[in-house]
Amino acid sequence: MKWGEGFVDLDKTVHDRKSFDCGNGELNDFIATKAAKHMKAGVSLTRVLPAADPMPGAGYPICAYFSVAASTILRKTLPPRMAKKLPQYPVPVFLVAQLAVNSDCQGAGLGKVTLIKALKYLVEVNRYMRAVAVIVDPVDEEAQRFYEKYGFEVLCQNRGRDRMFLPMDTVVRLFA
Ligand SMILES: CC(C)(COP(=O)(O)OP(=O)(O)OC[C@H]1O[C@@H](n2cnc3c(N)ncnc32)[C@H](O)[C@@H]1OP(=O)(O)O)[C@@H](O)C(=O)NCCC(=O)NCCS
Repeated sequence: MKWGEGFVDLDKTVHDRKSFDCGNGELNDFIATKAAKHMKAGVSLTRVLPAADPMPGAGYPICAYFSVAASTILRKTLPPRMAKKLPQYPVPVFLVAQLAVNSDCQGAGLGKVTLIKALKYLVEVNRYMRAVAVIVDPVDEEAQRFYEKYGFEVLCQNRGRDRMFLPMDTVVRLFA
């Protein structure tokens, strides 16, 4: 599948959410049934990379997507080198809540591009509303290895998953 020009906000009237398949049921279900609802409810924001061409009668297939949300973390959860600079109350972080690439497009560098786009988006948000880190809760060990490649480190357990993080100042430096 040939992908289009760039990432845009998910629009359920334009993008074919149901045909997305990344090989992981949870991430397929999220884009098919939850992402648009969560955007409307103000829970998270999803951006998608549509295919270059629409499917007749079904809108544009989605080549990749990411969802981001605001969250907080307790200071004591963070490594001492970061924690010592922070107040006692929960501090803001950005959560990359979901990130996935359509199976048809995997292995061609799009996962890396999607993560870079998500981080770049959060750097822009950080200009107006600050956060101390970007966190992710990878769906499985393979996903965890993917994030490790880009410098994410395991922080703690969250609902049965390893939560990983990258300090915001590191992310900002990446795009400086
Ligand atoms: C993980 C995923 C996003 C990777 O997408 P992709 O387009 O195949 O990845 P890329 O081609 O950009 O690969 C980027 C790098 O990550 C590595 N990589 C890709 N998938 C990986 C995996 N599952 N585990 C470890 N490393 C992986 C590649 O080898 C490549 O490394 P290189 O630059 O040194 O060659 C994709 O396989 C996917 O959507 N999987 C299902 C959902 C998922 O696990 N999402 C993760 C977030 S919870």
